[in-house]
Amino acid sequence: MAAIAAVAARRRRSWLSLVLAYLGVCLGITLAVDRSNFKTCEESSFCKRQRSIRPGLSPYRALLDTLQLGPDALTVHLTHEVTKVLLVLELQGLQKNMTRIRIDELEPRRPRYRVPDVLVADPATARLSISGRDDNSVELTVAEGPYKIILTAKPFRLDLLEDRSLLLSVNARGLMAFEHQRAPRVPFSDKVSLTLGSMWDKIKNLFSRQEPKDAAEGNGAEPEARPGDGDKAKETQEKAEKDEPGAWEETFKTHSDSKPYGPTSVGLDFSLPGMEHVYGIPEHADSLRLKVTEGGEPYRLYNLDVFQYELNNPMALYGSVPVLLAHSFHRDLGIFWLNAAETWVDISSNTAGKTLFGKMLDYLQGSGETPQTDIRWMSESGIVDVFLMLGPSVLDVFRQHASLTGTQALPPLFSLGYHQSRWNYRDEADVLEVDQGFDDHNMPCDVIWLDIEHADGKRYFTWDPTRFPQPLNMLEHLASKRRKLVAIVDPHIKVDSGYRVHEELRNHGLYVKTRDGSDYEGWCWPGSASYPDFTNPQMRAWWANMFNFHNYEGSAPNLFVWNDMNEPSVFNGPEVTMLKDAVHYGGWEHRDIHNIYGLYVHMATADGLIQRSGGIERPFVLSRAFFSGSQRFGAVWTGDNTAEWDHLKISIPMCLSLALVGLSFCGADVGGFFKNPEPELLVRWYQMGAYQPFFRAHAHLDTGRREPWLLASQYQDAIRDALFQRYSLLPFWYTLFYQAHQEGFPVMRPLWVQYPEDMSTFSMEDQFMLGDALLIHPVSDAGAHGVQVYLPGEEEVWYDIQSYQKHHGPQTLYLPVTLSSIPVFQRGGTIVPRWMRVRRSSDCMKEDPITLFVALSAQGTAQGELFLDDGHTFNYQNRHEFLLRRFSFSGNTLVSSSADPKGHLETPVWIERVVIMGAGKPAAVVLQTKGSPESRLSFQHDPETSVLTLRKPGVNVASDWSIHLR
Ligand code: GLC
Repeated sequence: MAAIAAVAARRRRSWLSLVLAYLGVCLGITLAVDRSNFKTCEESSFCKRQRSIRPGLSPYRALLDTLQLGPDALTVHLTHEVTKVLLVLELQGLQKNMTRIRIDELEPRRPRYRVPDVLVADPATARLSISGRDDNSVELTVAEGPYKIILTAKPFRLDLLEDRSLLLSVNARGLMAFEHQRAPRVPFSDKVSLTLGSMWDKIKNLFSRQEPKDAAEGNGAEPEARPGDGDKAKETQEKAEKDEPGAWEETFKTHSDSKPYGPTSVGLDFSLPGMEHVYGIPEHADSLRLKVTEGGEPYRLYNLDVFQYELNNPMALYGSVPVLLAHSFHRDLGIFWLNAAETWVDISSNTAGKTLFGKMLDYLQGSGETPQTDIRWMSESGIVDVFLMLGPSVLDVFRQHASLTGTQALPPLFSLGYHQSRWNYRDEADVLEVDQGFDDHNMPCDVIWLDIEHADGKRYFTWDPTRFPQPLNMLEHLASKRRKLVAIVDPHIKVDSGYRVHEELRNHGLYVKTRDGSDYEGWCWPGSASYPDFTNPQMRAWWANMFNFHNYEGSAPNLFVWNDMNEPSVFNGPEVTMLKDAVHYGGWEHRDIHNIYGLYVHMATADGLIQRSGGIERPFVLSRAFFSGSQRFGAVWTGDNTAEWDHLKISIPMCLSLALVGLSFCGADVGGFFKNPEPELLVRWYQMGAYQPFFRAHAHLDTGRREPWLLASQYQDAIRDALFQRYSLLPFWYTLFYQAHQEGFPVMRPLWVQYPEDMSTFSMEDQFMLGDALLIHPVSDAGAHGVQVYLPGEEEVWYDIQSYQKHHGPQTLYLPVTLSSIPVFQRGGTIVPRWMRVRRSSDCMKEDPITLFVALSAQGTAQGELFLDDGHTFNYQNRHEFLLRRFSFSGNTLVSSSADPKGHLETPVWIERVVIMGAGKPAAVVLQTKGSPESRLSFQHDPETSVLTLRKPGVNVASDWSIHLR
C-alpha cells in the first residue's frame, strides 16, 4: 500500500511540475530549461569515467602475431596491459576512400549491440595489402585508395597517411577505453577481502580466456615516455580494477538504473592534423562550427525532449547524428561513429583561443604549431564501429556518407509548399475556416495540421467524436482545394483496455518491457501510456499496417503523418525519457538502442503510408527524433523553440548542421512554438522559413492565434510576399531535393561548402546557400534597417533577385532593408527555374509554365537543371517517368538538353519566359527546335539593369531547343 501511495505521490509531483511549467508558458513567464533535469557528463557515470582518463600512453596494444588478412578485412587482437582482456580490431578499406574500424570483445560474456538498419548495404570493401612491416608496426595499402594505414602495436594506434602526410590518427592521445563485460559484481564483503591481484585472477578465471603470450606480440620496445605517462599507467590500473560509483548501478534524481550487465562503455580518440574547423554531430541549439569543449561540457548525443531548450550550449536535444565533418583549405574529412547509445563528444584544439591575427602571425613567422583538432567519442554501450570518410573534398564526404546511410527521400511536391499548423485547430469548422482564410487572403498553402487534441482522448488513429465527427468530409473538402491534412500519431499508446491499439499491442506482446518482463508504462500526453517496441520488425509491420485506410478510420489519401515525442518522451522517466534498463526485442536494453528508437518510429510510419497506397505513393512523415539514416524517411524539425529573435537566428545553424550530415529536409516552427511573437518577428520568421527546406508555422496551445491574415495589412503583405517567393521557387526546391536524393548533397548549405578556401565563411551562420545558386541573408534583428551581406568568390558576380542589381565578389555589402525585404542573391553562372503564377497550392501549379532565370557569370556563362515528375508517386523510380533537363548558356546561346536520357515524361509544362541577368542588348533572338524552322522571339532589354527578357519561347519543357542571341 505504502509503495503504491509513494508512486502515486511521485506521479502527482511530476504532473504538478508539468502543470506549473505549463502555467509559466501561459503567463508568459521567462522561459528557460530546467538544467537539473538533464545530466551533465559528471552525472553520467560512464562519461565521467571515460573523461577522467587523460591523454598519455595508451594501455592497449595490438598483438601482431594474431594479425590475419582476409579478402575483406584485417583482424588483429588488442589487449589491455592491465586487464589482459582481449579485444578484436577489424579494419576494412572501403571503396570511395573510406576506412571502417570495428572493435569488440573477442569473447564477450554477452554479445554487444551492433546497430542494424542504418547502413543501406554492406559497404563495398577495397582490398588491403601489407606493404611494410617491422616489429612494432604494419603498413597497409588500400587498393584504389590513395592512402595508407599504419598500425602501431605498442601502444596501439592507427595512422592514415596520404602522400606521406598524416590525415588522421586513431588513439594517438591514448584515450581508448573499452569497458569489457565483467562478472556481476561481488558482494562488498567479498570484495574487501580480495587483493587487487586476486580480484583480477578471479575475473580472468570467470572469463577463462586464453592469456596473451606477452612480450612476443610486440617488439618489446617501450615507446618514448611523455610527461605524466608514469602516473597515467598507475591511474589506468587503479581505474581498471575498481568499481567506480555508478558502474553497476546509477541513480539520477529519483530514478535508478540497474545496469545488470555492469559498465560497458567505449571511447576512442581521433586526431586531425591540419584541421581547425569541425561541424556536425547534431542536434544542438548551438553554433554551426563546433566549439572546443575542454573545461566545459562535451557535446551530448542522447535523444531528449528538452522543455524550453536554451541556446548556445551542447546539451542533447531531440535527435542525434553521430557524424562529424572536419574542414580545412585543402581537405575535408568525416568521422561517422555508428553507435546508438548515449554518446558524448569532446573537442579540443591546439589553436583554440588564438585570434585569427595570432594564427596569421604564427604562419608568417613559420613559428606556429600545425593546427590540430582532436575528437574523442564516448558511448555507454555497443561496440566501436567507426567510418573514416576521407574526402578529399566536402562533396566527396557527402557522397561517402550517402553511400553508407542513404540519401534524403524525395519529398512529395506538396510537402515543399507551406504548412499551417498549431496546437490545436479546434474542430472541423476551424480547419475549414483556416483553409478558406488562405483563399480569401490570396495566400498559398498546401497543408493544414492537426495536433494531439484531434484524437479521442489522445488515442492516436482515432478522432474526437464531438470535434471531428466527419473527418472524411473534412479531408474531401481539403482535397477539393488540392490541399492535404497532416495528423499527429505519437508513439506512446494510452493504457486503456477499451482502446483497440493498446489491446492488440498488449496481446501481441509488442510493447517495450521493464527489466522484470512486464509492459513498460510511463506518463505522456494520454496519461499512463505504453511504448511500442519499434526495434522489433514485427512491431513495425503491425504499425505500418495501421495506416491502411480500413485500420485508420477517417483517414484518406490526402492525410499524412507527424510523429512527435519519439525520443521517446516519458514525462516521468529519467531525463524525460525511458529507463535505460527497459528491455527491447532481442533482449537488448534501452541503453543500447535509445538513439535509434525515433528513427524506427519514422521508418515504420513512412512504410505504412507507402503500403496503404499499394507501394505507389511517396510518403510524407515529419519526425522530431532522428538518427543517422532518418533522411530516408522524411522530414525533421527543430522542436519546441521560442518566439524570440535568437531562436529565429539559431534555426540557420541548426538546419545547416543537419544538412551537413544528410538530413536536408529540416525546418523550425515558424513564429516560434512558445510565447507570442510580435508581428515584426512573425514576418521575419516567414521570410526565413520561406527559404528553409521545411516551411511550417506552428504554435503552442496557449499562444494567441496567428494565421497571417490576423495581422495588420503591412505585415500580411510582407508574409504574402514571402509565401509567393517560396511558391515561385518550387521548381528550384524540387530540383535541389532531387539532386540531394540522387547524390547526397545538402539542399541548404553553409557558404564554406561552396567556397572551401574562403576562411571568412568558415564560421558564417547568418547567411546560407540553397544549392550552388542562391545566397540568402535573412533579416533576423528587430528593427533592422539594413544587413551586412557577404558575397564571396573572386571573380564571382551576384544578382539581387528583386532589383537585379549586380555585385562583384568578394565583398561585404551593406544592404538597406524594409519590412518586406528578404535579401537573396543569385550567383552568376546559374539558372534557376520558377513558376511565376502562384496559386492556391503547389498541386494547382505543377503543370504551369516555367520561367528560367539565367544569371550570367563574368564570362557570360550559366548552367542549371530542372527535375519534374508527377510530384507524388514512385513512378520516377519504377517507370522512369521524370524529366531532368539541363540548361546551359555560353557563347550567347542557351541550350536545353536532357541531363538523364533514362527519364521521359508526357507533360504540358512549357517555357514561358527567359530572364537573362547581365546580358547586353542583342539585335535579334532566334529559337531553334528540332524539326521546326527557326523562329524569332520578341524580347525586351533594360539597359539600367542589363536584364534581357525573352518572351514566350513556347517550347515544351521536355523538348530539346536552343535560343541564340544575335
Ligand atoms: C510537443 C511538440 C509540439 C506539439 C506538442 C503537442 O511539444 O514538439 O510541436 O505541438 O508536443 O503535441
